[in-house]
Amino acid sequence: MGPGRRGRYAGSMDPKLAYWTGATLNMATLVLLAFAGIRGARGGKVARHRRLMLLAASLVVAFVLSYALKLLALGREDLETWSSGAIWTLRFHEACILVMLTSGGLTLKKGLALSRTRAANKDSNLPSPLPGEIERHGRSGRIAVYAASLGLLSACAVLAGMYQRAAL
Ligand code: HEM
Repeated sequence: MGPGRRGRYAGSMDPKLAYWTGATLNMATLVLLAFAGIRGARGGKVARHRRLMLLAASLVVAFVLSYALKLLALGREDLETWSSGAIWTLRFHEACILVMLTSGGLTLKKGLALSRTRAANKDSNLPSPLPGEIERHGRSGRIAVYAASLGLLSACAVLAGMYQRAAL
């Protein structure tokens, strides 16, 4: 008889663990890019802000696509072996990701609209942004970046639990 589910990968790198390690590194990279992007916006460097935020957003899209592939290839996690604390941490993490995706998507849409205004290029003949448009973009953007930061912290806690269960 082969080893049980819990013990199959004990002491070795399970493909799911490798996937989540990569996903956490991806998330750390996108959070760093987003903070650098916020610094760009605060310093009035809108082109740099736009570039960094689009790069961060493309890493989010890459994660979502990779997650769909991971579900098809490796399936879901076996939560039966998780403690209730670990499951609550996972649920908190998922809530952060949901807030990041919704407010980030909304901010991206507003940012793309701002790209077609003088907010993105002061010397152009483009129209001025609508009153409050920049502030609303900034507000939903800050929510997205704070949710991403909490999402990253909770991802690290979830990943640490995975390593612990795998006895690595
Ligand atoms: C796609 C093109 C984008 C454009 C053209 C754009 C443009 C701008 C502009 C003009 C500002 C105001 C800068 C100022 O106060 O002078 C701003 C601020 C901000 N943007 Fe964007 N943005 C884009 C994408 C994003 C994305 C995807 C996010 C996050 C999900 C984001 C998050 C923010 C935040 C948080 C601020 C406020 C920074 C602060 O606290 O002052 N932006 N953006």
